[in-house]
Amino acid sequence: MTLQKICATTDIPLGEMKPFKIEGEKVLVYHTKEGFYATQTNCTHMFVPLKAGKLDDCTVQCPFHRARFDVRTGEVIDWASFPPGVQLLNFVRSKKPLKTFPISTEDGNLFVEVA
Ligand code: FES
Repeated sequence: MTLQKICATTDIPLGEMKPFKIEGEKVLVYHTKEGFYATQTNCTHMFVPLKAGKLDDCTVQCPFHRARFDVRTGEVIDWASFPPGVQLLNFVRSKKPLKTFPISTEDGNLFVEVA
């Protein structure tokens, strides 16, 4: 495990998300009312970048088929549901949570731990 300083906490305004590449790992960092969280950058359904999606409190929604994930745990809240018919694809792309990464703050900086 490597603890990496990624940026100042002020570099990611509340309600926004920002992607980073840390030791070859792509990480998306979210600033929520509950604090900072970090997950893999791409949706687990069809690997679309979540950065283009919508962050609502602690939930990120994929812009493609609208799967929603809890950024605190990576848990799937709603699986791909749009457009109608995508459920057929879900037989081969079943629910999968986002990978999460430990994140911490110290002296106004953000640190993420990657394997
Ligand atoms: S690619 Fe994200 S829901 Fe399909």
